[in-house]
Amino acid sequence: MEIVLTGIKPTGTSHIGNYFGAIKQAIEFSKNPNYLSMFFIADYHSLNTIKNPELLKQYTYEIAATWLGCGLDPNKVIFYRQSDLPEIFELNWILNNVTPKGLLNRAHAYKAKVEENKNNNLDADSGINMGLYCYPVLMASDILIMKANKVPVGQDQKQHIEIAKEIARYFNNAFGSCLTVPEEYIPESVGTIVGLDGRKMSKSYGNTINLFGNEKLLKSQINKIVTNSQTPEEPKDTNCSIFKIFSLFANKQQIEEMKARFAQGIGWGEVKKITFEVANSFLSSMREIYNYYINNPKEIDRILEEGSLKARKIAQKTLNEVRKLIGKV
Ligand code: ADP
Ligand code: TRP
Repeated sequence: MEIVLTGIKPTGTSHIGNYFGAIKQAIEFSKNPNYLSMFFIADYHSLNTIKNPELLKQYTYEIAATWLGCGLDPNKVIFYRQSDLPEIFELNWILNNVTPKGLLNRAHAYKAKVEENKNNNLDADSGINMGLYCYPVLMASDILIMKANKVPVGQDQKQHIEIAKEIARYFNNAFGSCLTVPEEYIPESVGTIVGLDGRKMSKSYGNTINLFGNEKLLKSQINKIVTNSQTPEEPKDTNCSIFKIFSLFANKQQIEEMKARFAQGIGWGEVKKITFEVANSFLSSMREIYNYYINNPKEIDRILEEGSLKARKIAQKTLNEVRKLIGKV
């Protein structure tokens, strides 16, 4: 059976960009009986940015509750925490030794930071830790240890999957075919979800709509979506952030109705009010499940522990093959 695997790093509170860009597709996959789904919380990937233990714990539980709120069924999906699998970190070290440094020099996140440093007249490596630099190798380890076939991710993760493929090939060439070369799964139709200000929605830009904020927060975030100064009577272009965000939550009929109202002229306040109603009814039952788990972290621990036991069996099998190939006695 093909393995579908994806992870999310707990570096902040999840937003609708995470849901529509990544989580939704992964959950859909998990309902397909032809695949074995493995979803995890990439908590050690967060360490290069988060140095506050309480915050890491909080975000880890939040991401776990997010997956569950979005419909992950722990009876169907192997759901685990990366840090509970020591096998990943052993493979990580082994893979470091077949990974050319030049491959990591080209990684977007690292290159962007170097560029930023240069522009600020700082040393090229200022503020860059090895966790950031080696991030793609750890991600490759997450994927390759499970011999994943398909990895559903957002567009911004494409390069990381390319790197994982390269690393698998380097290992197989050096030691013998063992690791599965994975394939990214990036649905064309999804693309990038826009944020309140029209840029990519991202916690680093502070332009997000929280996935599971309460109604009050949802309303206030939707009200912050940037519009223009057109009067209510003027016909409006649907190529704008609010329409795009509305369309994520609306059904076909609601979208057609909104298009017609844009053509006639509608006030931005009214558009925001309708967007809130549609988004809130989309999210409210998911939010209930999320709230249940966030208030019952022991339940989350239990689910993740069970998942880790299953995941470790697969990881140990791969690691044993790898150890043999490299000549570990
Ligand atoms: P952020 O940019 O807010 O830090 P992450 O990097 O933690 O988000 O992203 C987690 C997952 O959500 C990734 O698979 C990423 O591709 C997806 N994702 C994040 N933001 C967006 C967005 N604006 N549009 C589409 N997908 C997104
Ligand atoms: N780097 C991914 C992100 O920022 C998270 C991640 C870590 C991941 N390991 C992974 C995604 C393995 C897919 C497969 O979103």
